Amino acid sequence: MDDADLIVRYDGRVPRYTSYPTAPHFHAGITSAVYERWLAEVPVDAPLSLYLHVPFCDRLCLYCGCNTSVVRQDAPKRAYALNLMHELERVADLMGGRPNVSQIHWGGGTPTSLPADCLVTIMDRTRARFHVLNEAEVAVEVDPTVLNAPALDALRLMGVNRASLGVQDFDETVQEAIGRRQSFAQTEAAAEALRGLGIGSLNLDLIYGLPHQTSDSVARTARAALRLQADRIAVFGYAHVPWMKRHQALIAEASLPGPVERLAQARTMRGVLEGEGGYVPVGLDHFALPDDAMAVAARARRLHRGFQGYTTDAAPVLIGLGASAIGMLPQGYVQNATAVPAYSAAVKQDGLAVARGVALSEDDRLRRDLIERIMCDLEADLPALARAYGADVAPLLADAAPLTGFAADGLVEWNGTRLLITPSGRPFVRNVAALFDVYLQHHAATPRHAHAV
Ligand SMILES: C[S@@+](CC[C@H](N)C(=O)[O-])C[C@H]1O[C@@H](n2cnc3c(N)ncnc32)[C@H](O)[C@@H]1O
Ligand code: SF4
Repeated sequence: MDDADLIVRYDGRVPRYTSYPTAPHFHAGITSAVYERWLAEVPVDAPLSLYLHVPFCDRLCLYCGCNTSVVRQDAPKRAYALNLMHELERVADLMGGRPNVSQIHWGGGTPTSLPADCLVTIMDRTRARFHVLNEAEVAVEVDPTVLNAPALDALRLMGVNRASLGVQDFDETVQEAIGRRQSFAQTEAAAEALRGLGIGSLNLDLIYGLPHQTSDSVARTARAALRLQADRIAVFGYAHVPWMKRHQALIAEASLPGPVERLAQARTMRGVLEGEGGYVPVGLDHFALPDDAMAVAARARRLHRGFQGYTTDAAPVLIGLGASAIGMLPQGYVQNATAVPAYSAAVKQDGLAVARGVALSEDDRLRRDLIERIMCDLEADLPALARAYGADVAPLLADAAPLTGFAADGLVEWNGTRLLITPSGRPFVRNVAALFDVYLQHHAATPRHAHAV
């Protein structure tokens, strides 16, 4: 089957499965009061992961799908930092004790757009209220063009040991069309400065499917990225959702590569990263050097998928802090108010800002596990999984019926109980996961997602 036929058959709109149930199915019935109860019930010895969201940037890239806005004045940033700290203290009070933290991730937006002293103070308070383990990963997302000396100093004082640099594409025509000027030299200087601080672990983000990209141009970007010698490279497909992100409407749709071209671009980048760079593919959209912890976890079937995409973090509890941040507790998911004013007002009132969430049923847990294993391991044994949950495998096998068609198209190997995604099926792994998503199957009013490929 050629690519055009595959696209016709499988390029529906499916979620990225960074959670299950996915965020569009969170509802307002989960409130800060529910979250308070859930936090108090978390076992004291459960390892935690913390996510801190900073919804500010110095520039607005036209393709951006993140929850952020351009803010340049100091005062609103300082006010936000105070609210973040207030929320952190409230969560710590509710949990009691000094819980162990195995991972901290600062995301955004651009975390270093907060004043340097605010970043350091928040991290100091985090270490005061939580026991951040010596071996904990402390990661931060970095925009290489705005990484100045005070920000670097803050990262050092914060004990950051992993940095993720946004690149997207090095081609000037593409950069012009996406409103993101960033030279290779700037990016290289940022990588060197971070390494100079002793931050040994670097990730890069690249995107295909952007305006004016071609297979040749993305191959050049991927080759340039190899020169930066990052441990991990994420290659995201551009999610064009102008009905949700209005600024994306400034990108002319006629300049966007079509679905067949997108698939070719993803393959080309994969060829460069694997064939010339020696990276190994991890899940749907990551590449890692073979001895990197993420590649090791993937081989050992210990990879996980969370709101930041693929992760080696196995902590059963994720505390999300800041506007739009999502938390995962044994009882379910919670998400904070998205807009900064609503978040700030809620935190000022009672220290928490949950706007929506979902409690997990037993069926949700089973399907969440199955979808995570499909997304991470690219294989799953349905009866074994059902047994582990003491559940009947029949509904899963019924959902799996379309796999016969996927197998005929060369995307999976399927023997009636065990599925394995083939190398050519990897770009379609979300379509396989979606078969087991009851919310997608049975809820008519499912919101629109970006293209599958
Ligand atoms: C918070 S940003 C990274 C840090 C920093 N703000 C920067 O841009 O350099 C996270 C990443 O999300 C990815 N991203 C943002 N919008 C996207 C979209 N619409 N489609 C696909 N990936 C997107 C980009 O690769 C970006 O580097
Ligand atoms: S891509 Fe990064 S720098 Fe650009 S607007 Fe989004 S979060 Fe901000």
